[in-house]
Amino acid sequence: MKYGFFDDQAREYVITRPDTPLPWINYLGNEGFFSLVSNTGGGYSFYKDAKLQRITRFRYNNVPVDEGGRLFYICDGDTVWSPAFRPAMTPLDHYRCRHGLGYSVFEGRKNGVRAELTVTVPLHTDMEVQKLVLQNDSSETKALNVYGCVEWCLWNAVDDAQNFQRNFNIGEVEIEGSTVYHKTEYRERRDHYAFYSVNAPLSGMDTDRDAFLGQFRGFSSPKAVEERTSYGSVASGWAPVASLRIDLTLAPGERKVLIFRLGYVKNPADQKFAAPGIINKKRAYELISAFETEEQFDAAMAELKDYWASLLSRFTVKSSEEKLDRMVNIWNQYQCMVTFNMSRSASYYESGTGRGMGFRDSCQDLLGFVHLIPERARERIIDIASIQFEDGSTYHQYQPLTKRGNADIGSGFNDDPLWLVACTAAYVRETGDFTILDVPTPFNNVPGSEKPLLTHLRRSIQYTLSHRGPHRLPLIGRADWNDCLNLNCFSNEPGESFQTVSNFESGKAESVFIAGMFVKYGREYAELVRRIGLSDEADEVLRAVDDMEDAVLRNGWDGEWFLRAYDAFERPVGSHLNEEGQIYIEPQGFCVMAGIGGEEYGRKALSSTEARLGNDYGIEILTPCYTEYHDYLGEVSSYPPGYKENGSVFCHNNPWVLLAYCRLKDGNAAFDLYTRNAPAYIEDKSEIHRTEPYCYSQTIAGRSAKNYGEAKNSWLTGTAAWTFVAASQGILGIRPDYDGLIVDPCLPDHMDQLTVTRLFRGTRYEITVKRGPDKGMRTDGKPVAGHIVPLTDKETVKVEVTI
Ligand code: BGC
Ligand code: NOJ
Repeated sequence: MKYGFFDDQAREYVITRPDTPLPWINYLGNEGFFSLVSNTGGGYSFYKDAKLQRITRFRYNNVPVDEGGRLFYICDGDTVWSPAFRPAMTPLDHYRCRHGLGYSVFEGRKNGVRAELTVTVPLHTDMEVQKLVLQNDSSETKALNVYGCVEWCLWNAVDDAQNFQRNFNIGEVEIEGSTVYHKTEYRERRDHYAFYSVNAPLSGMDTDRDAFLGQFRGFSSPKAVEERTSYGSVASGWAPVASLRIDLTLAPGERKVLIFRLGYVKNPADQKFAAPGIINKKRAYELISAFETEEQFDAAMAELKDYWASLLSRFTVKSSEEKLDRMVNIWNQYQCMVTFNMSRSASYYESGTGRGMGFRDSCQDLLGFVHLIPERARERIIDIASIQFEDGSTYHQYQPLTKRGNADIGSGFNDDPLWLVACTAAYVRETGDFTILDVPTPFNNVPGSEKPLLTHLRRSIQYTLSHRGPHRLPLIGRADWNDCLNLNCFSNEPGESFQTVSNFESGKAESVFIAGMFVKYGREYAELVRRIGLSDEADEVLRAVDDMEDAVLRNGWDGEWFLRAYDAFERPVGSHLNEEGQIYIEPQGFCVMAGIGGEEYGRKALSSTEARLGNDYGIEILTPCYTEYHDYLGEVSSYPPGYKENGSVFCHNNPWVLLAYCRLKDGNAAFDLYTRNAPAYIEDKSEIHRTEPYCYSQTIAGRSAKNYGEAKNSWLTGTAAWTFVAASQGILGIRPDYDGLIVDPCLPDHMDQLTVTRLFRGTRYEITVKRGPDKGMRTDGKPVAGHIVPLTDKETVKVEVTI
């Protein structure tokens, strides 16, 4: 069943009831100020870093879930209601939530009053702006009390959730006109504050949460709201809020607009105060005055819509598959932007206090993002490379605000270094900008350690080659892409981190997956350096690639599929010789993508993959699932069967298999796999799938799970980037390359024709693909041999491909 529908014209998903199986969220903001917003107005905001600069409070794992966020109450006679249903939870006469690209709209109607609440973070603005339109559709005059409220987080989200002996003393606000300033800790070391403000005179306000709510109450029924009043409370310690009340009347047919502004301001250290103890509000005034009127708000919305229209116009498809088009043209690319911005930091499942930016995650996110804003990709690559160590190993994660490697998790994930090669090569193919290779980039952010980015890539290659085990395969370290395959961990202590503990550094456990990566990205590295004239180095790396391929064929092939690894005792993992975990998806996808063993091995591996791992929702990560915990395997065997790394469809690596099918020119299998878990294709199973039908989730419970088909951990997953690569470069076959744009579709039989537009190196390619006897390609009417459309200065090139 469905809980809404896609409005492709508006580029919105329209949710028609508040009781979605889980909160269905959206993201606002693109640069500094970010907000999460659920379909009932929940969520939170932060500036740049969800851990270190959290602006509003959110309680994960709360009961009921998704409390807090944007708290709007409309009091109309005896009734109190909220335009987004929550927090008041009064049944509405009409409810809609429209999640769009960078904004969400809530339409609520009750007793003849219509409210439309639009929330967005305007471009280049450190502020969430909320436009509340109230319209009286009834025939009586309405006297309304309107409240808008937020609860402040005391900045550091970890401290905020645990250090209460301090927290309950530090909350401070300043009140001026219709604005409440949250200046907690500003008196001492912070140089930033936040504010919540409305463009109307206040009828009343509260800044102390407990006063506003009253005893024994939650956000659904604050005492102040019940009494249609405000107490003028001034927070001192405890929990500061900003509750703004506006009383207004609406004549029949009358419409009024309120603009609420939730902003962040950072002041230069020497301009913090306007007077002793009084914060300097100059920048806040500027932000506020930029959004005083509906016209200003509407102009910002129009600008945001244009921005997205222009970004998305860089890649569009029109085919006979409406759902494919909707994913590729809108939602998949949107999710690529979100994963680029958030990595795995802040969602409704990632608390924003844990993982920060992942090295491998962010590198992969770039693969689906680089065509959108190459300049930001370039900057990101340098940030990521800056947490690499001199020996080529890398920190596993970094904090977005400080950009420093996270020492708690450290390094030792031996796939990490090669992902840097993957994203840099993708960047250069997209842009032709070889100068990135020269950018002086530090190791571990140590000033003075800068070496050209190319040196970092070279160290990645060398690291892999110099860390190999008894079968000439790369050592796995703490884990490879599969964080939970911890072959040196040997943990039997509850609570010990599988990712950071190595109780038995065997120096032997090896990964066939990293070998596959090396073959693929080693070749990409060789090609890259050949193009800057380093042919000797290219040849040398290719010899290493051949050697690795040989090692995989000799030691990494199980007979019908690729092995996954060797454990600390040199025993195979992911082999028919194992009782459980006989086959894993990762090496099948990657080794076939890398072309290891050619078509023969590829076909065998993929047919074993489909036969053993295939289910209704895609390809499971391994089978049979582990039913017992094994300390020599680690976290993978800790999950109950069918969940997460122990046998779910871990969506991230399904597109690897899809691309592998494309490599074997099997368009039917590739497309079939695509449709099994692409959100738009399973929208009508929302009651089973449960997460948002407009974005990918990390996992879908596998056949062994009790809740087969149920997804978890939506939004922040490498699935977004990889699926965009799989759909655009695999199925549609449009691949940016050094000398031009490759057009080599791999379509299912039922697709006879399609058109694609692709902006590439300043030229707009208008590509038509159809079937016919006369196979080949024409550009601007002229036949071209092969699949590559050569680079050109022209503004537009028409490409016709007959397959
Ligand atoms: C999860 C992985 C995650 C890892 C590191 C594991 O519990 O299953 O998906 O990557 O923790 O945070
Ligand atoms: C999620 C992590 O963010 C990612 O880095 C990892 O590859 C997968 N889990 C698989 O374990």
